[in-house]
Amino acid sequence: MELDGKRIIVTGAARGMGAATVRSYVKAGAHVVAMDVKDDLGAEVAAQASAMGPGSASYLNVDVSDMDSVESAFAAAVESLGGLDVLAHPAAIHRSADATDVSVDDWDLMFAVNVRGTMITNQVAHKHMVPCGGGSIINFGSISGQRPEPTAAAYSAAKGAVHSWTRTAAGTWGADNIRVNAILPAMVTPMMREAGQREYDEEKVSRYQSQMVGIAMGGEYGDPDTHLGPVMVFFASDASWYITGQLIPVDGGQTNVR
Ligand SMILES: NC(=O)c1ccc[n+]([C@@H]2O[C@H](COP(=O)([O-])OP(=O)(O)OC[C@H]3O[C@@H](n4cnc5c(N)ncnc54)[C@H](O)[C@@H]3O)[C@@H](O)[C@H]2O)c1
Repeated sequence: MELDGKRIIVTGAARGMGAATVRSYVKAGAHVVAMDVKDDLGAEVAAQASAMGPGSASYLNVDVSDMDSVESAFAAAVESLGGLDVLAHPAAIHRSADATDVSVDDWDLMFAVNVRGTMITNQVAHKHMVPCGGGSIINFGSISGQRPEPTAAAYSAAKGAVHSWTRTAAGTWGADNIRVNAILPAMVTPMMREAGQREYDEEKVSRYQSQMVGIAMGGEYGDPDTHLGPVMVFFASDASWYITGQLIPVDGGQTNVR
């Protein structure tokens, strides 16, 4: 049980990688508060993980783009956990639109949830981790923030901002014994399936599908429980203490961050 007794908040926990992260953490002995806007699904994920043990999970509503919502949900979580050691922050949204068509509304929504949401959750987590003597913050970037993304201009720009923020927060909070890294995943999840279905133009579809070509390990997107869960446990554990400010692709070799 590598995470025995760790006190952890997981955002975006109702489905996809957030749900897999909750399961992996409880399996490793941690106590988790799962958060999302999809309350029924999120509560089910937490209840099922808790039933499996040996750790535990409960569920709270949060809108990560809203400071009041994050402050009150995190305060309630810290109260019930007795402190905070780890924030895993997969919550995000995806929309498809190219550089020519992207609307101001979609741009603002993407930056509110994906970028402001990262800043707010990290800042509030930092505040609660300082009295606990330190901790680990695990953000979610994307290969989309590292390269041209013809099908998702605003998402790509927002993920680029998450990468920059992760480096800056790591540089600032190392003095507080708090490390900040970002996972750049390629996993089969509802977001990935919805984005694939949304592509509309033949050329863009083939560019989207060509992303699979660069996956050296098996040529397919990964499974969140099998391929991401153990990495999330490592970054929550003390074994990753000397790693901070890094973009970590967990994508079978698709992204080159060097
Ligand atoms: N799936 C992939 O291959 C892939 C690739 C690169 C990056 N990512 C990133 O990985 C992370 C996890 O993605 P996923 O594929 O599991 O996505 P997903 O859509 O399956 O799950 C995201 C969860 O975040 C929640 N969420 C959305 N807005 C929220 C808000 N305002 N407040 C709280 N919760 C909110 C959703 O309800 C959902 O449960 C995201 O940051 C995504 O951008 C995914």
